[in-house]
Amino acid sequence: MKALVLTGGKGTRLRPLTHTSAKQLVPVANKPVLFYGLEAIRDAGITSVGMVVGDTADEVRAAVGDGSRFGLDVTYIRQQAPLGLAHCVLIARDFLADEPFVMYLGDNFLVGGITDLVEAFERADYDAQILLTRVAEPQFYGVAELGPGGEIVGLQEKPEHPRSDLAIVGVYIFSPAVHEAVRAVTPSARGELEITDAIAWLIGNGSRVHSHLVSGYWKDTGRLQDMLECNRIVLERVEPDIRGTVDGLSEISGRVVVEPGAVVENSVLRGPIVIGANTKILSSYVGPFTSIGSGCLIENAEIEYSIVLDGSSVQGVSRVAHSLIGRNVEVSRANGVANTHQLMVGDHSRIQVRA
Ligand code: TTP
Repeated sequence: MKALVLTGGKGTRLRPLTHTSAKQLVPVANKPVLFYGLEAIRDAGITSVGMVVGDTADEVRAAVGDGSRFGLDVTYIRQQAPLGLAHCVLIARDFLADEPFVMYLGDNFLVGGITDLVEAFERADYDAQILLTRVAEPQFYGVAELGPGGEIVGLQEKPEHPRSDLAIVGVYIFSPAVHEAVRAVTPSARGELEITDAIAWLIGNGSRVHSHLVSGYWKDTGRLQDMLECNRIVLERVEPDIRGTVDGLSEISGRVVVEPGAVVENSVLRGPIVIGANTKILSSYVGPFTSIGSGCLIENAEIEYSIVLDGSSVQGVSRVAHSLIGRNVEVSRANGVANTHQLMVGDHSRIQVRA
């Protein structure tokens, strides 16, 4: 069994972060979301990974390298344009050869790993195995409609009028039968070769496609609220670990990780949170479900339920919440004219300020 991990794509829903970096590398509890998937693949006993890369190829390569630190052997496959998930399978034909493979979307997060799923596929005689989970807003996902016996009777990609609330999770297992299917499909209305269409083609041509309902936690982290929610889930399980310096005036409660070189002075830290290496938290409040990256400065500020990436600062601002702050960003109090907001913000940013 091999794995095909997808890290190309447009990432429009996470702009502006995705203008400059790969969404698969946005950290969840200070670890790139992609790494959780690579670890799940390794834990399932798979070592040979094809990594489909797009415009952010250099950044993904710098983060993952040859895969040896994960116990993996990674081969990079360049996708010239984000032409769809089925296109990724097409261009990986030589790498995949005639082996079955797990296809893992690099921005998907699945609690519980994939070991059981891989074992179930190996025991059975399916051409494809897909995972389904109930979601509140099926219109944003590939959706499956099941018949009375649990068989798949219909598949729709991001349907305006979904026929069920069962979303297709971004972790699939295919036999080599999928290669004929991805050659057979034509671009959808949005111009992509859809894996949903390839799976529908398999079903239409008598292949055995098995669906499995996932009871554990799954998120496609392509949207801000999903990213924050995923961060919350991971933080709820972190083991408290204080390796930085916390002064006697500070108060810590709950699951709190303070990485080496971090300094906390005169502050309140309410877990679960992680504070990255060499970050300074000075006279501030850091509230639940917050991940602060490394080399950051939080001073005279309050922040909670947020993710702050490396090298950023938040100074003199009261309460930042439900926020995703990119790398090397400065958030500070406007001095001078009262009651103004001074903004210098990149393209496609979203700012919500108190009225
Ligand atoms: P999506 O999140 O469905 O697509 P996207 O990355 O273009 O994002 P957005 O909708 O916000 O514009 O892609 C799922 C995963 O597959 C993601 O990790 C990116 C990857 N991908 C590719 O590698 N190649 C592709 O052609 C596409 C469409 C996605």
